[in-house]
Order: sequence, then structure tokens, then C-alpha cells
Amino acid sequence: MGKKIFIINFKNYRGGVGSRAVKLAMLIEEIALEHKNVETLIVAEPPDVFRISHSTKLKVLSVADPVDFGRHTGAVIAEDLKDNGAYGLLINHSEDKINLAGIKFLIIKARSLGMKSIVCAENLEKLKKIVKLKPDIVAVEPRELIGGNVSVSTAKPSLIKKAYEISSKYKIPLLCGAGVKTKEDVKKALELGAVGVLVASGIVKAKNKKKAIENMLEGFI
Ligand code: G3P
Repeated sequence: MGKKIFIINFKNYRGGVGSRAVKLAMLIEEIALEHKNVETLIVAEPPDVFRISHSTKLKVLSVADPVDFGRHTGAVIAEDLKDNGAYGLLINHSEDKINLAGIKFLIIKARSLGMKSIVCAENLEKLKKIVKLKPDIVAVEPRELIGGNVSVSTAKPSLIKKAYEISSKYKIPLLCGAGVKTKEDVKKALELGAVGVLVASGIVKAKNKKKAIENMLEGFI
């Protein structure tokens, strides 16, 4: 990817699913066009991938289960996401954790399909195991700070620094996330070695989403 990276995870927030997800994606696309120094991507829930990827030019990530074609009613397979326009997979988010074998399966699957793999780790111990699997990007997100108002970059700067030491040994770009809400939070994350941030509530739950997106994007300058 090369540029700084801004990933907005829509989760299952009311403002992040269905028609609202499409509307939010269109708003993000419009603002992202004015910030070409940053690669802005979104994470949509699987049912919204098709509509968003066909209504915008944004790169859309989503979540898959570690299974192949077959008898897996209710599971989401990477092949299906790809066919519906997904650009990559967000793997092992702490709200959707899978074991190491599943992570490995999805990284290899993503690669074979020409999709990007972004793998989350909730601590350094997990991160050390994940980098060995060579995903395209890793993201460190301490679970207890997710959805809160204290940014990981303020609360746990040493965690990001150490995560950077680990990921850079494998030349894997590092993101961080959890509680990131302002341009200052973004700026701090970049200073600590992250190539970007992974955010959700600060945008999807914001009253003024445009302002929230613009504010965070300013942190990349
Ligand atoms: O995937 C991003 C996420 O877990 C961080 O959430 O709401 O703390 O920005 P939030």
C-alpha cells in the first residue's frame, strides 16, 4: 500500500449497517478524495460488501470464517466476499477471534485470492505468533480500550512501540486501534511507529460524522 493507512470498521453499529452503511461509505469516499496522502479503507459486515463496493470506489474489507466451499451453512467464505467486491480480510478482530490455525488458513486463502490480509492481535504475545504467518498488515488493539474514549496511543504508548519492534523485524506494517477519536490520537500513533489506525466508534457513532472523519484525517498530516 505504501501510504499511511486509515481503516474505519463499521461493526454492527446502527450507523454502520444496511443503507446507513452505504451512506457513510459515500461520505468517507468524498472526504478521502481530499486526503490523497492517506489510504482510507473500510471494514463492512459481509451483507453490506456488495452494495458498498458497487456504490463507491473505496477498498472494502470484511470478515470471513476459516472454511472452504462446502457444507457450512451460515459461514462466510473469502471466495464469496471477493466475488462481491471485497478487497481484503480483517482477521482475528477481538470481537471475532479465531485460533492460530484459522488465522493461518485465512492469510493463505487471502493471498491465493489476491486479497489483502489484515490481522489483529490483542497483545504482544499473540502478535509475535501472528507476524510469523506473514500477513500484509498487523493491527494491535487492546480489547479493554475498544469503544472507549481513551486512545491506545495515549494509554499504552509502550505497547505500540514494542509492537512496532516486533512487526518491523518482519517488515509488516503496523496499525493500532482502540479508543482512537481525534487527530492527536492519530498523530501519536504514527509517532510511535504505526503506519495508521483502525477506528470504529469515533466515526460510526459520531453525531457529526463528517467532522469526525476530517478531524482524524488531519492527524496524518
Ligand atoms: O476495529 C476497530 C476497533 O475495534 C476500535 O474500535 O470503537 O475503539 O475505535 P473503537
